[in-house]
Amino acid sequence: MIPLPRPAVYVTRRLPAAAMRLLEETCQVSLWDELERPVPRAELLRGVADAEGLLSLLTDRVDAEVLAAAPRLRVVANMAVGYDNIDVAACTARGVLVTNTPDVLTETTADLAWALMLAAARRIVEGQRMIETGAWGPWHPLQMVGVDVYGATLGVVGAGRIGGAVLRRGGGFAMRLLYHNRHPAPELEAATGAVYRPFDDLLRESDFIVVSAPLTPETRGMFGAREFSLMRETAIFVNVARGPLVREEDLAAALRAGRPRAAGLDVFTREPIGPDHPLLSLPNCVCVPHIGSATLATRTRMATLAAENLVAALTGRPLLTPVNLTELVALELAAPSWGRGATDR
Ligand code: DGY
Repeated sequence: MIPLPRPAVYVTRRLPAAAMRLLEETCQVSLWDELERPVPRAELLRGVADAEGLLSLLTDRVDAEVLAAAPRLRVVANMAVGYDNIDVAACTARGVLVTNTPDVLTETTADLAWALMLAAARRIVEGQRMIETGAWGPWHPLQMVGVDVYGATLGVVGAGRIGGAVLRRGGGFAMRLLYHNRHPAPELEAATGAVYRPFDDLLRESDFIVVSAPLTPETRGMFGAREFSLMRETAIFVNVARGPLVREEDLAAALRAGRPRAAGLDVFTREPIGPDHPLLSLPNCVCVPHIGSATLATRTRMATLAAENLVAALTGRPLLTPVNLTELVALELAAPSWGRGATDR
């Protein structure tokens, strides 16, 4: 029997070995073989010319230009739960499937949100800097005082999987739990005891405000001067979602004025930020470099799930975590074997 030709795929970064193996078993893989440097745009456009599948990262913009350069493309498997780097509507219109990597990073990202909450509340980074710069003087009653996490009110904006996991952890700290979503979530309320609040009320009532909403046209810029002015003077603001949800200049001004009291940020409007970024100069702002999902186990699971989705799509097997399958089914552009019952994430 003549073996079927292996589908050509383009992979925009070297992935953990398990994911590379999975792809190489089934596909003819072209790779931007670097770990740290994103694929240059021209190289991406060249790379997708013959590709039926594209495995992308959140640093790759997949838009009409990429689709036009990739006439044979059938699937874009993004190695991230967020897919604001992909023009999903353009993919759907072209009959291109999009997949993402939900669930596998939920707990890891919730841990990081908590690391930022605790670090900002208890001034961990400031404390280390104090020692490093020789500014640690004798113990005194108000030295490096922060705010309590235990027993405080936690408000999560965007209580999906990650937001829900952040809330669940709040139970262990005896926190009062609030959330805001586009729609109330009765299952989350039953599981965590969290209570729904309109957006402004949540901002007024929370001691900790954690953002874990996706970046969409509706959420872009949703935290600006008005929202910060509604927060408590003692509030701690944490963003583990996407930078552009926050107007950074407004946040810097608000932190300088002391309302909210402190912030913990994993994400920024333009990443990576440099050492001269205004938020870094503020002692009450803890900044880390988009590491929400950054444990070896989780990044390996994300890469493997992206690879599994890509292979499933190209070999006509049921998809694991599609984004636009419902739309493709409605347009009669989906392969029946992808699993009409599969739920988009
Ligand atoms: C995602 O998956 O969207 C994160 O931002 C990276 O883990």
